Amino acid sequence: MMNPKVLFVLALLLNLVANSFQKPNPKTPKSTLSRAHVELVSYGLPSGLLPATTVLGYAVNRTTGEFTVKLGGACKITLPPDNYVATYSDTISGKIVQGKIAELDGIRVRAFFKWWSITGIRSSGDDIVFEVGMVTAKYPSKNFDDSPACEGQHSSS
Ligand SMILES: *[C@@H]1O[C@H](CO)[C@@H](O)[C@H](O)[C@H]1NC(C)=O
Repeated sequence: MMNPKVLFVLALLLNLVANSFQKPNPKTPKSTLSRAHVELVSYGLPSGLLPATTVLGYAVNRTTGEFTVKLGGACKITLPPDNYVATYSDTISGKIVQGKIAELDGIRVRAFFKWWSITGIRSSGDDIVFEVGMVTAKYPSKNFDDSPACEGQHSSS
């Protein structure tokens, strides 16, 4: 039988080793930050609103703010801090102005046993507000400083 003190130290060491492999997360290197991610920041929104995935194309009409982001594929992520599962279609569109995206199409979140379309996202002080129709949910912006890694594909049906 091993001495509990030794076990504790071993556990601590294992934890340290595990953490050193996890940080920085190899799945989200800064190099995956596309122009679309950078653009979000220039509009006063955190880049982590877009997952760390290939962005095939990005277009915005500077006059109307209408934009389209084409991802390499549909993507599933887990949103901090409540671990809601969200899916991104391979095409995300909407209307972006400083600190705000409206008429959003292509991002859905699973909550209360249903899929909800996120219709808008806006910045409010240190928070990010997600709109699902008339319903809103507020989270600290810092939760979205890093782009979450895609956890694989999903069927968009
Ligand atoms: C932006 O949208 C406006 C209004 O629909 C349109 O007149 C203009 O041509 C568009 N600009 C570009 C660069 O697509």
